[in-house]
Amino acid sequence: MRALARRLGEDEEEWGLTGLLHDIDMELTEGNMSSHSKLGADLARELGASEAMAHAILCHNPAHGTTRETKLDKALFCVDPLTGLITAAALVLPDKKLAGLKAKSVRKRFKEKSFAAGADRESISACSELGLDLDEFIELGLKAMQGVADDLGL
Ligand SMILES: [Fe+2]
Repeated sequence: MRALARRLGEDEEEWGLTGLLHDIDMELTEGNMSSHSKLGADLARELGASEAMAHAILCHNPAHGTTRETKLDKALFCVDPLTGLITAAALVLPDKKLAGLKAKSVRKRFKEKSFAAGADRESISACSELGLDLDEFIELGLKAMQGVADDLGL
C-alpha cells in the first residue's frame, strides 16, 4: 500500500495504515463474510481512522456491494489479493523466501487459476482502475514486499 501510494503520489502513511488495519476484525468475525469489514470499518473509526480509511476497509470485502469510490478504496481492493498471491508464490519456492521470487513467476502463477485460488484474479486485475497494468502492478507489489521481507517473515 505504501509503495502504491508513492507511485500514485498519494498519502503513504494513510495508505499504509489502511492496509495494516484492513483485517482488524478478523478474529472477531471468524470468517463471517457478512460482518467482516463492516465491523472492521467501525473498529478503525473508533481507533481514530479517517472516514476515507474506514470506507476503504469496508469496501475491501465485496460481500457488502459497496462501491469503490476513491483511489484508496480501489488500491486496498486490488493490493490485498496481490499480496496473497505473492506470498503463496514465495511459499512454494524451495527456500520459501521472497528474495528469489521473480515478477515473471508471479505472472505465471497469476495465470494458473487453481494456484492460490483465494487470491481473486479479477480483484487483482482491478489495478487497471488505478491506471496500472498488471505487469507493473505485480512488479511494484513484489519489490515492495521484498523490501519488508524480514517483517513479513518471508
Ligand atoms: Fe479482509
